[in-house]
Amino acid sequence: MPTPITIAVAGKGGSGKSTLAALLIHRLTQRGESPILGVDADPDGALSWYMNLEPDCTVGELKESLKGSNLPQGKAQMAQMGILQCLAEGEEFDILTMGRGQGTGCYCAVNDLTRRLLGNLAEEYRSVVVDNEAGLEHLSRGLPFKVNLLAVLCRPERMEVMSAKRIIALSEELGLDIANKALVVNQSADDAVVEISTICGLDRYVTIPRLPILEKGRISDRPPDWGKILMQVDESLDRLIDWAIAKS
Ligand SMILES: Nc1ncnc2c1ncn2[C@@H]1O[C@H](COP(=O)(O)OP(=O)(O)OP(=O)(O)O)[C@@H](O)[C@H]1O
Ligand SMILES: [Mg+2]
Repeated sequence: MPTPITIAVAGKGGSGKSTLAALLIHRLTQRGESPILGVDADPDGALSWYMNLEPDCTVGELKESLKGSNLPQGKAQMAQMGILQCLAEGEEFDILTMGRGQGTGCYCAVNDLTRRLLGNLAEEYRSVVVDNEAGLEHLSRGLPFKVNLLAVLCRPERMEVMSAKRIIALSEELGLDIANKALVVNQSADDAVVEISTICGLDRYVTIPRLPILEKGRISDRPPDWGKILMQVDESLDRLIDWAIAKS
């Protein structure tokens, strides 16, 4: 299979990252870009819940069980099987949960191994969507992915816009392999967007309107009905996906 189309989503906590990641996964499915790997790389995130697929364990837990200064052959095989346990499988998409970062001890060998295994795993998919935390921790250290598009989210609020600007700068400082970047202004009417894109220095941007269906469902014990929401935001999702494909 060719290199997957990879879209990474980042933004301040609560800006709408997991919502956008879930919408992108469903839109990629509709566009025939499956199988899709969704990576929940935000320890405070809930991509697996949004996608209704809960894994048995996280990559962080797997690393914890395998850490140590050397990795004999048996552990490498255990890691390979363990990665599959961290994968919750659906029909068109699977969700991998990275989980918490590491505690004390020696993780070098296991980090190298899991990076390699995750790189191999991603090659089995046609597209990959990564839901990141604001520090891009997993993208810089744990995930060996070339990113076609980094979609940076913010709501039209000063603190979120400044956070988006910092994330864009951080992605450059970390030297991440990112072909293209776009701004996603969430819960926004169009009027503030040009100013926000100027502040962030990105000329590619889309907006997502405030969606009452999401507001009503905030304390529901079930994930949103993505089918209904997709119809309202498909143009913005398509622009993001097209920018990602153009650079793949
Ligand atoms: N366009 C929108 N309109 C209305 N509500 C929205 C919209 N986008 C997201 N939300 C709501 O905002 C809340 C936060 O969204 P989400 O969980 O996607 O953010 P997040 O950035 O992933 O948060 P966290 O940093 O906690 O992981 C959720 O209740 C979600 O339903
Ligand atoms: Mg989230």
